[in-house]
Amino acid sequence: MNHQILVGNTLNHIQNLPKDSIDLIITSPPYWAKRRYCDEEEIGTEATPEKYVKNLTKFFKTLEPYLKKEGNLFINIGDTFFGSGAGAWNKYLDKQGNVTKYQKERKEKYYTLKPLQPKLKQNGKLYQNKQLLLIPSRFAIEMQENGWILRDDIIWHKPNRIPASVKDRFNNTYEHVFHFVKSKKYFFDLEAVKIPKISGKGLKNPGDVWSIKTQPLKGNHTATFPEELVEKIIQCGSPIKGTVLDPFLGTGTTWVCAHRLSRKCIGFDINKDFIGIAVSRFEEYFPNDNSEISKN
Ligand SMILES: C[S@@+](CC[C@H](N)C(=O)[O-])C[C@H]1O[C@@H](n2cnc3c(N)ncnc32)[C@H](O)[C@@H]1O
Repeated sequence: MNHQILVGNTLNHIQNLPKDSIDLIITSPPYWAKRRYCDEEEIGTEATPEKYVKNLTKFFKTLEPYLKKEGNLFINIGDTFFGSGAGAWNKYLDKQGNVTKYQKERKEKYYTLKPLQPKLKQNGKLYQNKQLLLIPSRFAIEMQENGWILRDDIIWHKPNRIPASVKDRFNNTYEHVFHFVKSKKYFFDLEAVKIPKISGKGLKNPGDVWSIKTQPLKGNHTATFPEELVEKIIQCGSPIKGTVLDPFLGTGTTWVCAHRLSRKCIGFDINKDFIGIAVSRFEEYFPNDNSEISKN
């Protein structure tokens, strides 16, 4: 299997691919105002949640012509509370408004982007501290307005989620995985992902709540998605020998899963360190493999 793994902005790289050539796009975009992965302009650093939703939708509109008519798009996206971290503001900026050593260290280690949110003034409506912003729902609606057909809102339940220290709400233990298509007839191999019936006789549709443990971090990257989740999606969303694109490749989870399942992977990431981690991970998983990997 020959793969194409490139450093750089997906919006530039995508233009070099043939239109109508991808069977499945599977990805986990940067969430709004959570982390800064590099210093260039990147998704997730928009000034408001509304701008983020518009920008992310525009991003997938750009990718749409490269997805086959019968192709699938799966997007894993989580939510954010407005003002998260605002209470600990002093830790992030000093009296002169400069980023503190504490925040600098956190950024290097976890790519956290705490100072971004509190810059937005509360407006007593959506922008109120403690407000759950419902970003996944806003994004899904915006995608529908842009012509995508939403087929599933899969709940990825994380059974091993560490309890948060919050005392006035429940601990968040899930994220969404939206399944979009371009046309009413599309590739979908349900048989490949069926699970045993409780009676033990025969197989059944696995349903739309998937309980899958989060995986340990790779390097400094704090937002890897679990291989089990990605494999399920690749199996039902693309044919064997098909082409899978991850436009936010990160540490290469989609790549290793696609390879294991005999699909070609095209992966882009704006951060060269992550592509480095992805390449080492691939080499570690498949030491004797002679796949051709084009990189820049
Ligand atoms: C949530 S992470 C993806 C994690 C990945 N699913 C994994 O398992 O490691 C999002 C990634 O998007 C990348 N990114 C952000 N904006 C980008 C852009 N315009 N083009 C390419 N990559 C981008 C970031 O560098 C980051 O690695």
